[in-house]
Amino acid sequence: MPCCRSAYAGLTQVSPSLTRSQEERRVGWIRRLLPLLRPQRGRFAVALVASGLAVLAQLAIPVVIRDAIEAALPSPTNPIPRASLAPFVVALVALGIGRAALGFISRDGLARVAFGLEHDLRAQLYEHLTRLSFSFYDRVQTGQVISRANSDVRSVQMYLTYAPSLAVTVVSFALALVLMLQVHVGLTLVAVAALPGVFLLGLRMRQDLYPLSWVVQARLAEVATIVDENVTGTRVVKSFAGERRQVALLERAARRLHWATLRQFDTRARFGPLMEQLPRVGLALVLVYGGSLAIEGRVSIADLVLFNFYVVMLQAPFRSLGFLLMLGQRAAASAQRIYEVLDTRPEIVDRPGAVALAHPRGEVELDAVDFSYPGSGEVVLRGLSLHLRPGDTVALVGRTGAGKSSVARLLTRFYDVDTGAVRLDGHDVRDLTLASVRHAVGVVVDEPFLFSDTLFANIAFGCPDAALDDVVRAATAAGAHDFIATLPEGYDTVVGERGYTLSGGQRQRVAIARTLLVDPPVLVLDDATSAVDAQREEEIHAALRTLMAGRTTLVIAHRLSTIALADRVVLLEGGRAVAEGTHAHLLATEARYGEVLESATSADQSSAAHGAADHRRPTVASGGRR
Ligand SMILES: Nc1ncnc2c1ncn2[C@@H]1O[C@H](COP(=O)(O)OP(=O)(O)O)[C@@H](O)[C@H]1O
Ligand SMILES: [Mg+2]
Repeated sequence: MPCCRSAYAGLTQVSPSLTRSQEERRVGWIRRLLPLLRPQRGRFAVALVASGLAVLAQLAIPVVIRDAIEAALPSPTNPIPRASLAPFVVALVALGIGRAALGFISRDGLARVAFGLEHDLRAQLYEHLTRLSFSFYDRVQTGQVISRANSDVRSVQMYLTYAPSLAVTVVSFALALVLMLQVHVGLTLVAVAALPGVFLLGLRMRQDLYPLSWVVQARLAEVATIVDENVTGTRVVKSFAGERRQVALLERAARRLHWATLRQFDTRARFGPLMEQLPRVGLALVLVYGGSLAIEGRVSIADLVLFNFYVVMLQAPFRSLGFLLMLGQRAAASAQRIYEVLDTRPEIVDRPGAVALAHPRGEVELDAVDFSYPGSGEVVLRGLSLHLRPGDTVALVGRTGAGKSSVARLLTRFYDVDTGAVRLDGHDVRDLTLASVRHAVGVVVDEPFLFSDTLFANIAFGCPDAALDDVVRAATAAGAHDFIATLPEGYDTVVGERGYTLSGGQRQRVAIARTLLVDPPVLVLDDATSAVDAQREEEIHAALRTLMAGRTTLVIAHRLSTIALADRVVLLEGGRAVAEGTHAHLLATEARYGEVLESATSADQSSAAHGAADHRRPTVASGGRR
């Protein structure tokens, strides 16, 4: 079976810029985003310039109006007003159109830049997630990861869309201030008197909201996790009639989210109106003080109108300043969470100078391996040694929790050993590239994951370029071809999420075909036929036997029929190999072996009985409906 060798290529390099101190992470998130901005700097510059010009046009409009009023009203310097206001009208229309056009260019440009950044950041995050080791996925909840990849990236994007306009707002404020100071210093001071108050209020609000935005995001993720687990685990929930309990759990989490969001809105509701009204106080002061100045003739009516325009104009930026500050807090919190993921170093990576294992013969060795899962104190394997010569078939037998699956995970280097070594063809797996190790060792697990895709795509997952012939051959060997051929759409049948439209045994056979197609010299079957019924298993065994020829195989099994495939049996207990030999030899000499087999067989029978009951249930239900 030919196969591509490139499926894992490129997934294992680590960017060197990923380790940062906590402090740097909190402060420097915008700086860390800058490399993503670089490819778009041209568009970004155009948008910023347009935005600046738009502000100039906006500031010019009141000036034109003031001049128009001056031209139209009689004054000591201009006793006979000009008849035509047409030039002013033309100027106003031109400024209005210009401002609209520039506003479009700047908003469109800034949004494009921000969405581009969102896309790149998300891609960076996804790429990093594919690189992270299993220990990361053991630790985190799916909901947290999904939330980081979605809402956190979104909130950073929101801020980046609006933050540049904050900069422009500051510029417009400064310009308006200059123009106002030229008219009347005292009146200017009165007009802006309230603005520092608004700013201080904004700061207070920021201090109150910052921790809350964290809490809200965390609780959102909590809810997402519960929903995710209930959707993916719906079979467990329903079979234990646990819907009510789960709904109550969700209800509790939703109430906690509700509390946090309410606190957030409460804070905003307390500060928002104050922040909006304070500038209006400024406007009132301008009318009172400016009115008296105008009556005394120290400020012209036209200038007073100009002032009014500017004071109103300045309110909007100051109001959005609060909004921007809030977005900024949320974005900072989100960026912190995103960079927490990006800063998590994958523990299992190619070491510098790792070599690819070329033409593996399939010799497998565990040499005095001690192993415990990262972050867990429990020692899973203790001084375990195991040697498989090329072509050997060894059965690993042991109670649940003995560490059998952990052995399989070490062979593929999903985790690293604490002491000792795992070797392939005499090479420590830590000296080999991950891609070559994972191509050399194929694992079929007891609960295989299928994608919501066609059966063809699922089987060809390890070799996307495989021809239909090869896929059919692999499926035939795995005993999957017969049932696939009876499906109306055959290999083009799309399986439901996680393959749940197939029976457990069918899923396992598809997974075996998927691994066989890659044609690995080392095959690990981790309870891979546990959900296949005994008769079907016989058929697969016949096929497996031919496939095991010339291949090193480790079968983790408890059924006698499967164990019979092996030349040798290793009994694992408490993470140690306690006995080794042929099945008959162990049965005769090792009491513990008989016990393990017996308990496994009775567990198997009771689960088979369970399975049968499970199959009956839908029939009863449909009978009831009829
Ligand atoms: N991802 C994990 N993180 C921490 N502990 C684990 C993990 N997977 C398994 N274990 C623990 O390691 C021990 C061996 O598990 P495993 O190798 O799956 O046993 P077996 O396959 O023989 O039933 C068990 O005590 C189990 O609780
Ligand atoms: Mg297991």
